[in-house]
Amino acid sequence: MWIKPPADIPPSEITPAEIYRGRRRFMVTAGALALASGLGQARAGTLLSSLRNPTYSVDEELTSRKDVTGYNNFYEFGTEKDDPARNAHTLRTRPWTLRVDGLVRRPGTWDIDRLLRLAPMEERIYRLRCVEGWSMVIPWQGYPLDVLIRAVEPLGSARYVAFTTLADAAQMPGVTRRVLDWPYREGLRLDEARHPLTLLTFGLYGELLPNQNGAPVRVVVPWKYGFKSAKSLVRISFTEREPPTSWGRAAPREYGFYSNVNPGVDHPRWSQARERRIGEFFKRPTLMFNGYAEQVAALYSGMDLRRFY
Ligand code: MTE
Repeated sequence: MWIKPPADIPPSEITPAEIYRGRRRFMVTAGALALASGLGQARAGTLLSSLRNPTYSVDEELTSRKDVTGYNNFYEFGTEKDDPARNAHTLRTRPWTLRVDGLVRRPGTWDIDRLLRLAPMEERIYRLRCVEGWSMVIPWQGYPLDVLIRAVEPLGSARYVAFTTLADAAQMPGVTRRVLDWPYREGLRLDEARHPLTLLTFGLYGELLPNQNGAPVRVVVPWKYGFKSAKSLVRISFTEREPPTSWGRAAPREYGFYSNVNPGVDHPRWSQARERRIGEFFKRPTLMFNGYAEQVAALYSGMDLRRFY
């Protein structure tokens, strides 16, 4: 990202992967309101009922809702942390469609309300580690991206998925500035996209996503730097070749395709060994794969993660 490098921090040891403690399953208060009442009227603040998935949730103190929704990167609405919360009210999230195409047997256009009903909504408490050096713990509502992938039946030749997000200058004031090559684009290898941790996300803190967090649908990939978690998706394409990404094009030496959280590989302009959890004063060590090594390390066995940063 385009930020000033912080003061130099000596590299610290790599902390071993954390072992998660299971969490009691419970219903997020709310009831079935959202799904029963017709999501045609849905907007931020609409409640989403979900069941917490303890297997894929961390037992750490949540970042406050105020910080999760008030300290954001969403350059389509400006480059300051408080710009998205201030400016994203102009985003129209209904009607909304997601185009799914490329190397699949069943390409098509999904209406957002059909997408919302494709699978039961889970709550997942994930760490989010931004490449800039801050982190949060966020309760998301969504279901595995793999549910949608199975529904569209990828062809054997599909090896990657490419995400494209909305770029409409009429709704997004930041798009008139050429800070990035719009639309914002991201991508994953197909096996990363199918990993059970990769979440197609519709809500946070038990409500539909606020606009500044990527309404009405985004992806969340918790073991990668936050910029891989593209917001306000309009298209998912299955490809044979590694798709170009916005940050990779803007600064290829700084932002690789993989961008796995890795405290042992520094950003060319700053250390990635430590992070500041928003709401805390002291920095903490950054964990390999953001603490998800036990689940995801096998995806990269035999790969040189310095080369494939
Ligand atoms: N998606 C789009 N379309 N545009 C963006 O600027 N910023 C990314 C990512 N997704 C971004 C985006 C970055 S750098 C981060 S850290 C996360 O969104 C932040 O997500 P959050 O604001 O919900 O915490």
